[in-house]
Amino acid sequence: MNFDLLNKAYREYTEEYLADIFRRYEAYPQKILFEAMKYSLLAGGKRLRPIFVFDFCRMCGGDWHEAAPFAAAIEMIHTYSLIHDDLPSMDNDDFRRGRPTNHKVYGEAMAILAGDALLTDAFMEASTIQLPNPADIGKAIGLLAECAGSLGMVGGQVLDILAEERECTVQEVLDIQNRKTGRLISAACALGAIAGGADEEQFAAACKFAAALGLAFQIRDDMLDVIGTQEEMGKGVGTDAAKNTFVRIYGLEKCEELVQRYTQMAIDALEAFPNNEYMIQLAKSLTDRRV
Ligand code: IPE
Ligand code: IPE
Ligand code: MG
Ligand code: MG
Ligand code: MG
Repeated sequence: MNFDLLNKAYREYTEEYLADIFRRYEAYPQKILFEAMKYSLLAGGKRLRPIFVFDFCRMCGGDWHEAAPFAAAIEMIHTYSLIHDDLPSMDNDDFRRGRPTNHKVYGEAMAILAGDALLTDAFMEASTIQLPNPADIGKAIGLLAECAGSLGMVGGQVLDILAEERECTVQEVLDIQNRKTGRLISAACALGAIAGGADEEQFAAACKFAAALGLAFQIRDDMLDVIGTQEEMGKGVGTDAAKNTFVRIYGLEKCEELVQRYTQMAIDALEAFPNNEYMIQLAKSLTDRRV
């Protein structure tokens, strides 16, 4: 396994596939909407969630290219969540993925609608997947909706807002972060596993990996809000100071230790897969990411 080659292949395929989605919109008059959707979706970003979809599919023995509709759908939902997260009524951020936030360029109404469209079109995209067992498609799409909606990411964002006005317990912060960030990462790993024809043991291992990795990822995100720079991150820093972040409850040093501990838990879950070298290396590389 050559990490760099596979990494490049996943990223390039993601970019091509996402850009291609807009071809089917060419004939329609709501061009400003497509432009706003494209502005955020094709602005780069680490593409981690598509990579999780592809690599869990591959580790479960599937042809990873076939999982592209799920990979694209999750990246579309993730991008919508970022557009809405940055709105003045939410985190009120001016910078994202190396450029001004969507509402700064297209105005609030169009940013809200671009988010709505990305979310909804994501399900249109996901439904185009072809799997040997059609029952798996319904299962996967239901899971995606559960992870994205009121029980998952949206629920987490609500709890995150409510938590601004008071001190939270460690357990509460874990629950908030699990929902707002962890659930979409879980959806990525689980849908990749389903697309790859995972057995029960592999599916459970994918979920276990995602739960631990999601926490490590958000703790590092909270650390970078303090120690990162806007140039490296492509988004504003220091903007979550009033939030119940992991840094606020634990301090930077303990956060560093927790990132290592949760990442190791995630890596341990990968034992269920014989060809897990890529994912182990990726998980390790995220512990000291600056982006
Ligand atoms: C940022 O996600 C928001 C969180 C859920 C922490 P990413 O750090 O994956 O953002 P992109 O996709 O690379 O822009
Ligand atoms: C956002 O968490 C998680 C989402 C569901 C978008 P943050 O508010 O910490 O994400 P950033 O730091 O703005 O990317
Ligand atoms: Mg937020
Ligand atoms: Mg934010
Ligand atoms: Mg953050």
